[in-house]
Parts: sequence; C-alpha cells; structure tokens
Amino acid sequence: MLILGIETSCDDTTAAVVEDGRIIRSNVISSQTSAHEALGGVVPEIAARHHVELIVGVVAAAIERASVSLQDIDAVAVTSAHGLVGCLAVGVGAAKSISHALGVPLIGIHHIEGHIHANLLDHPQLGFPFVCLTVSGGHTLVALVEGHGEYRILGETLDDAAGEAFDKTARLLGLPFPGGPVIDKLARQGDPRAFNLPRPLIRSSSFDFSFSGLKTATKRCVDELQNAGGQLPVADLAASVQEAIVDVLVAKTIRAAAAERLDIIAVSGGVGANSRLRERFDQVARRSGLRVLFPSLELCTDNAAMIACAGYHRLRMGFRSTLDLDAKASAPLGPV
Ligand code: KG4
Ligand code: ZN
Repeated sequence: MLILGIETSCDDTTAAVVEDGRIIRSNVISSQTSAHEALGGVVPEIAARHHVELIVGVVAAAIERASVSLQDIDAVAVTSAHGLVGCLAVGVGAAKSISHALGVPLIGIHHIEGHIHANLLDHPQLGFPFVCLTVSGGHTLVALVEGHGEYRILGETLDDAAGEAFDKTARLLGLPFPGGPVIDKLARQGDPRAFNLPRPLIRSSSFDFSFSGLKTATKRCVDELQNAGGQLPVADLAASVQEAIVDVLVAKTIRAAAAERLDIIAVSGGVGANSRLRERFDQVARRSGLRVLFPSLELCTDNAAMIACAGYHRLRMGFRSTLDLDAKASAPLGPV
C-alpha cells in the first residue's frame, strides 16, 4: 500500500511516498531556511506563501522519485494539526485536492504523532510500549506510546520548547537561525562547564519542562559579559546552554521511563539531531542497560515520510478524514 505524505506545518515543504508504512520510496524536503535566516526566525505569512509556491513541485518530485504515478497512490496523509495554521492550510488543501481527484482516503495526522512514527520507520523492530521524547522547535513532550495512536502524555513544556530555547539563546549570542544546529557545532569547541546556567525543573517530581528561565539567565549572563567589555566567549556560552538543555531532557526522560518501568526510550524531533543529546543518551544507555533509539538525522527534523507512516497505521485502524478536515494551530495529541 502506497501512502503519499504531505507535511507543511512550519518552514519545510515536504512530501513523501511510503510503502506499507515502512519502506521510504521517496522523501522530498524543500527547506526555506535561507528565506527565514535573514529575518531571524520563521515569519508565518512568508512561510505560507513559500509553501504555496513549492507544494506542487515537491509533491510531483516525491511521486517521480518514488518511481510511481499519482494513480498508484492508495491514500493521502497530511499534517493537519499543530503548527502554523496558514502553513498547515496549504498542505491540507493540496492533500484534499489529490485525495478527492484520485478518490482515495484522506488522513489528517497530528504533527507529534508523525515525529513519534519517525522512530518506527527507522527501527521497525521497535515494539510497544516505549517512552518517546519529542523535542522540536514547537514542542517538547515525553509520552508513553502503547500502540499506534495510543499515547499518554507524561510531561510537556510549560513554556518554551527545547528547540525554541536553542533558537532564542542562539539569537542572544548573535548566531543565525535556526540556532540548534549552529549551537551544536560551536559547542564542540566550548567548555560546557564555563557558565553555570539553570536546569529548570530538573529536580521536580513532575515530568514537565520549562526553558524560558534558561533563556532569561543566558540573557543576563550575556548582558553582564558585554557590559564588562571584551569579546563574547560564544563557544563556551553555546556549550553551557546546550549542556543545560541536554541535562534536563536526559534526566527527565530517564526518570519518566523508570516510573513506567520501561527500558526503551525513543527520541524524535529536530532537537533529536543534537550530537550532545545523542552522546549523553548513549552514555546513559550503556551504563544503565536502557535502549535509546534515535531516527536518522533526516527523519529527526520535519519530513513527510513520518506523516505517511503514521497515516498508514491510522488507515489500518479504520481512521479516515473527510473533506472538511481543518488545519488547527494546536490540538491534543491523537486523532485530528
Ligand atoms: O522538528 P523540527 O524540524 O520542526 C518543528 O517541528 O519545530 O525542529 C526544528 C528545531 C529547531 O528549533 C532547530 O533549532 C532544532 O530543531 N534543531 C536542533 C538541531 N537540529 C535542529 N537543535 C539542536 N541541535 C541540533 N543539531
Ligand atoms: Zn516537527
């Protein structure tokens, strides 16, 4: 069964063809990063306009690279919830048109459900239940995944997402957008203990996260250093910020897994590409006998293969969307 996936929730225009929920026949990602870099972040209106320009070509490329024709597609899955509503609307509109024209099912997918499925695509042997940490620019949550579509949220961010913390602190350091990959690279030349930044909620009994205090503390630190004159130790600051974020993510996820008596953790979302996060989880896994899985770098950040995979499983569960499927800026994790 061939599912066409479409994902346009933020600044990447993406389409993919996935066979039987596990074989990626194509995964096309057209990034708008350069368009938003100069503006220091994603401007929703501009992102939506780019999606309009790109979507037809990206879908056509996904079909062509999969070596199939549009008529071979059995269903269309699209991110319809959680994201920039104008951006989502472009993908949803395209998916509705294709599904209606082909007479095949349409399946709306929650963006986080897609990220969770990135792990199932890359690790088909991954069984349920497992604990999944999803860390991206818009979300940070740790969930118990008991089956396809069966989630229990154990904790989530009370304010900024982890990716947002990377992006906002990078901006304070004068680094380009998106800040996560830049901090990741710079931090390799810095000392993670140079600045003692807060690890918000690290000792709290809940599995919730909070990153806005870290951003404020970093700003205070940068202001003090700038007032004192001299050059900003950017690599040390990047390494210290990254270490604080990683400390919290690792500690809380491990505790959540222990509370659920589970020894399998999956990590997903753009921040899942962070090399220090991967290294720290690997160390913990080796020490404690936990299994920590990450998707490939391409499947960590936004992509449509994960949406097609989630769509395949929703379809098998009997789930269908109708043509009045709406784009929603936010929605609880689950059917949309
Ligand atoms: O999942 P994603 O592509 O889009 C959203 O759903 O938000 O995640 C984008 C986020 C951005 O905040 C970006 O800075 C962060 O993921 N990111 C990283 C890395 N690569 C991307 N953060 C830390 N280290 C990285 N290597
Ligand atoms: Zn995402």
